[in-house]
Amino acid sequence: MYETIALIELAIWLGLPAWIANSMPVLFGGGRPIDNGRVFRDGRRILGDGKTIRGFVVGVFLGTMTGIGQSIAAPYLKPLLENYVVVTPSMEHVLYMSIPAAFLLSLGALTGDVIGSFLKRRIDIKSGNPSLVLDQLGFILVGLILASPILQPDAVYVIILVVTTLGIHWISNAVGYLLGLKKNPW
Ligand code: CTP
Ligand code: MG
Repeated sequence: MYETIALIELAIWLGLPAWIANSMPVLFGGGRPIDNGRVFRDGRRILGDGKTIRGFVVGVFLGTMTGIGQSIAAPYLKPLLENYVVVTPSMEHVLYMSIPAAFLLSLGALTGDVIGSFLKRRIDIKSGNPSLVLDQLGFILVGLILASPILQPDAVYVIILVVTTLGIHWISNAVGYLLGLKKNPW
């Protein structure tokens, strides 16, 4: 039981830089779009107005800052974890978030976001319209792939992270719908 709680906490810890990187552009983004307004050979925008340079840079910056905070906090959190579980090397690997790892998670998250946007335009989904897999998982998976040379979490963390990410999207969309901020509950 305590073991399971620790695994979930660490999976969330692992996801923090990518989640922050992916969610901050909506607050601080805007300005010149990455594709500069250009269209692809299919006649549709390469990415669209929703992907801006400032959003990308701010996301990578704040995700990396999150990692700096995490790397400072890790040594203090370890004894708290040890109070109720045996901290294994694979737990410690995730807990001791490094700044380069957080940078790669964040850069990957925003790159995954851009790749998702590119693919959405190619299958003719308009800017801002949803695509389940591309919007909700692309950023986390590309983040993990980019960080993989220096960050190799056990599969259990990746699985929990994917499930949690889908759950958070579902909850935030449902809340947005109930508050009248969104037209659809998905
Ligand atoms: N945003 C930004 N720069 C980015 C990513 C996001 O400025 N690199 C801002 C934009 O204002 C964007 C909002 O955050 O509209 C929401 O982001 P997201 O849902 O990822 O983009 P969408 O508008 O849905 O565009 P797309 O359909 O291309 O994914
Ligand atoms: Mg969107």
